[in-house]
Amino acid sequence: MQKLQVLLVLFLASYDAVFSLSDGLLPNGNFEKGPRPSQLKGSVVVGNDAIPNWTTQGFVEYIRSGQKQGDMVLVVPEGSYAVRLGNEAYIKQKVQLMKGGFYALTFSASRTCAQEEKLNVSVVPTTEKKDWGVIPIQTMYGSNGCESFACGFRADYPELDVVIHNPGVEEDPACGPLVDSVALKLLFLPRRTSANLLKNGNFEEGPLILPNTTWGVLIPPHIDDAHSPLPGWIIESLKAVKYIDSDHYTVPEGKRAVELVAGRESAIAQVVRTTVGKVYDLTFSVGDASNKCEGSMVVEAFAGKDTAKVPYESKGKGGFVQGKLRFKAVSTRTRIIFYSSFYTMKNDNSGSLCGPVIDDIRLLSVRYPRQA
Ligand SMILES: *[C@@H]1O[C@H](CO)[C@@H](O)[C@H](O)[C@H]1NC(C)=O
Ligand SMILES: *[C@@H]1O[C@H](CO)[C@@H](O)[C@H](O)[C@H]1NC(C)=O
Ligand SMILES: *[C@@H]1O[C@H](CO)[C@@H](O)[C@H](O)[C@H]1NC(C)=O
Repeated sequence: MQKLQVLLVLFLASYDAVFSLSDGLLPNGNFEKGPRPSQLKGSVVVGNDAIPNWTTQGFVEYIRSGQKQGDMVLVVPEGSYAVRLGNEAYIKQKVQLMKGGFYALTFSASRTCAQEEKLNVSVVPTTEKKDWGVIPIQTMYGSNGCESFACGFRADYPELDVVIHNPGVEEDPACGPLVDSVALKLLFLPRRTSANLLKNGNFEEGPLILPNTTWGVLIPPHIDDAHSPLPGWIIESLKAVKYIDSDHYTVPEGKRAVELVAGRESAIAQVVRTTVGKVYDLTFSVGDASNKCEGSMVVEAFAGKDTAKVPYESKGKGGFVQGKLRFKAVSTRTRIIFYSSFYTMKNDNSGSLCGPVIDDIRLLSVRYPRQA
């Protein structure tokens, strides 16, 4: 009995340690601890283990906030320091996770040169054929030149390397994105309930939104991602959607919501089990995030072949309307999709794209449709 108790305590203790490691910034995940002066040549990192808690490979620079490249000030997303990855350079860190658990990785990045920049994010080893994603570092959604990104993965092993790699081959090896604030969150996978046939319809479960960032988290298109960091939902489009929280934005319900930032190119979808011939009501909120995104907006909802358009007049100061789509299922699986009909830009002259916010999506079967 005593032995069992000791074992149990040990088990709980180690479980706890794993947990505390996995939710939040990785050790030195914001790179505020840097190399010793002897491990730097100008801003170039010398040696593979110069940055505490990280292993680096290739042309990696340690960038201080305010540092210039020519006339351009390099944008450090958060705090005082970030790293820059040159062509084919990578940073990696070993993490201990819960085997079989689903995780969302969030990190911030900013572009430094004019050309398109990309990061290859992977977790190794994995039992999957492909468990990496190439994320384009687009900075057209934020006013300040940096963004946060999230991707999801399943931990196939209890100990893994998180690798962020710049696959670019630019002419100037010093070109390459800045990386900052690498964080992990264990995801809880919501189920459908009798109160909502959709999973995670209110988007409360999703990747970590870094508390010190004000620009939300871009969830890249599903095509680049083996598992969604937004449980239940897939990003069924060419462009990202933005995950936002009530600490920094107005959201219709709860603490989190999704902003459809790229018109028809930015769609979220979920496939639900339905019964042929049954009538269903899909209800949802359409609003704005109180982020200077003004104008006439329309969110289009699809359930199989049925569709509804919900107009919303945004003053850019928050608010929302209710939308509803009633449909009769014609298949045992119905694809629910939402996108914004138009592109919208913030009215702050930043040229950043923005769009309507969608939240509180519910699907219920209607038992007596004639009486409803
Ligand atoms: C991170 O690095 C610091 C300084 O090198 C070290 O003291 C600490 O133990 C490391 N943390 C982890 C979790 O490896
Ligand atoms: C991305 O990284 C993974 C593993 O780190 C590698 O297998 C894959 O080839 C890389 N993809 C690209 C496009 O660089
Ligand atoms: C947020 O910023 C504060 C103050 O700069 C810092 O102490 C804290 O570690 C930061 N938190 C995260 C999660 O980056």
